[in-house]
Amino acid sequence: MKTALVTGAAGFIGSHLSERLIADGWRVRGVDCFTDYYDTTLKERNVRGLASESRFSLDRLDLRTADLGALVSGVDVIWHLAAQAGVRASWGAEFETYTTINIQATQKLLEAALETNPTRFVYASSSSVYGEAPEFPAAEDSPTNPISPYGVTKLAGEHLARLYEKSYGLPTVSLRYFTVYGPRQRPDMGFHRFYRAIYGGEPVTVYGDGRQTRDFTFIADVTEANYLAGMQGRPGAVYNVNGGSRASVLEVLDIMESVSGREVIREFLPKQKGDPLHTGGDPAKAREELGFVPKVPLSEGLAAMNGWMKELLEV
Ligand code: UGA
Repeated sequence: MKTALVTGAAGFIGSHLSERLIADGWRVRGVDCFTDYYDTTLKERNVRGLASESRFSLDRLDLRTADLGALVSGVDVIWHLAAQAGVRASWGAEFETYTTINIQATQKLLEAALETNPTRFVYASSSSVYGEAPEFPAAEDSPTNPISPYGVTKLAGEHLARLYEKSYGLPTVSLRYFTVYGPRQRPDMGFHRFYRAIYGGEPVTVYGDGRQTRDFTFIADVTEANYLAGMQGRPGAVYNVNGGSRASVLEVLDIMESVSGREVIREFLPKQKGDPLHTGGDPAKAREELGFVPKVPLSEGLAAMNGWMKELLEV
């Protein structure tokens, strides 16, 4: 039986990945420090189904301060998803949280991993490393010019992962996720905020003119990409993980209106600092090297998320 270490296991993507690994017969050592960036009861809820699994354990610890030796010992694959997420909140005094969690804790975990020789170390990066990409779709070797402090820390983490592969042969693989959505999406993210407003009878806040586009990616597809990267990602490589459902915020709201059957009141606010106008990833490398092909189109993913939001909000 293989053992995985999943950091950020109580988070949006980490909890789905943990469930997938358990279903595949793995033993999963989950780690999460339950930071209060958002309501921790949502994180408790994310791992509720895993609690009864004898092959799943959850350590509540902070990677920045914990002794990581014991944590990585005997682990076959490490999925490092723990992070301070969120593009728009990474300015000002908050930046320290981003640097300590996204850069320093990542370096500490990479160091610890050297002692155990895992077969893969998968690092959760972000499309935000591209910033305003000069061309679409952005391939992995396109220039990286993050426009948010968050993106800077994610790019630093990627560089660290690459360095540990180059210098020590640690088989690291980085995945650039593109705006992930679906059941358990973080409450600070767009779709979650939109559904909450829709069911609360309040206006949705649209940043800018709403014509900005994202290459939205459904959670089940991201889970699959993580799994494939952990099995067969090329050591040292970086892969885009994008859903191929590029759409504007206004288009998303139109779909939400039809799947929820509720009227959507749109309130336009200024464009936010750090938000790129468009994102779009070239899927070729992940398809060729990982066999990753996203399966869930936006309308289907939004319907699934609608169901989950209704359950969460009890409407
Ligand atoms: C998301 C995640 O939050 C990051 O952690 C991740 O790294 C990033 O995706 C990525 O792809 O790299 P973001 O694209 O900003 O960042 O995702 P959302 O918060 O879901 O926003 C999507 C779009 O909706 C953005 O254009 C944003 O400006 C817009 N939005 C969001 C609004 O118009 N109103 C809102 O209230 C919230």
